Amino acid sequence: APSILAADFKVLGQAIKTIEENGAEYLHYDVMDGIFVPNISIGIPVVKALRPVTSLPLDVHLMIDRPIRYAEEFIKAGADWLTIHLESDQPQNTLACLDKIRAMGCKAAIPYLTKCDMVLVMTVEPGFGAQKFMADMMPKVKKIRQMLDEVNPACIIEVDGGVDAVTYRTCRENGAEALVTGSAYFKAADRAAFVKALRA
Ligand code: DX5
Ligand code: ZN
Repeated sequence: APSILAADFKVLGQAIKTIEENGAEYLHYDVMDGIFVPNISIGIPVVKALRPVTSLPLDVHLMIDRPIRYAEEFIKAGADWLTIHLESDQPQNTLACLDKIRAMGCKAAIPYLTKCDMVLVMTVEPGFGAQKFMADMMPKVKKIRQMLDEVNPACIIEVDGGVDAVTYRTCRENGAEALVTGSAYFKAADRAAFVKALRA
């Protein structure tokens, strides 16, 4: 899942078309509100604008305070997956948000293992691209995979942050199936070959 945070925003539509041609399976879309994380990125109008440009599923990562307020609008704009953070609201609102996302036919991702379709493990502190991969998150990935195998085997694990042609290996070995790559994808000399290597 190439993360468009590392793309050239001047020609975003173009960058997205080539992501599909290069063999990626999802498009990762980072939303930051300047409150939940110390950075502001892009939001609902850009999802809407990009939706017709690609047929890839849009994996929308909400790094925002109280995401329940905006879940519906992101889904209407074209999100196929919505990932929310456990720390961004009270537990009852988080659960209500997951129910809302799935009731609207969108996939929900968060660590409530029986209530979601994907669990995101951040492998950097959320907020910026191009940070160093945190290998110490790997035992967590492995543990979550074991727990999922018991209660929700169809649920997948996504890792996000610092994933490149070297660090993807440990992610896969520990049970992550969805790999978000921002800077590594956009810096790769041959992006199609890069995607192929990560999918092999
Ligand atoms: C960070 C974002 C990531 C980011 C990954 O908060 O959630 O999706 O774009 O970028 P890299 O792969 O450069 O770490
Ligand atoms: Zn992300």
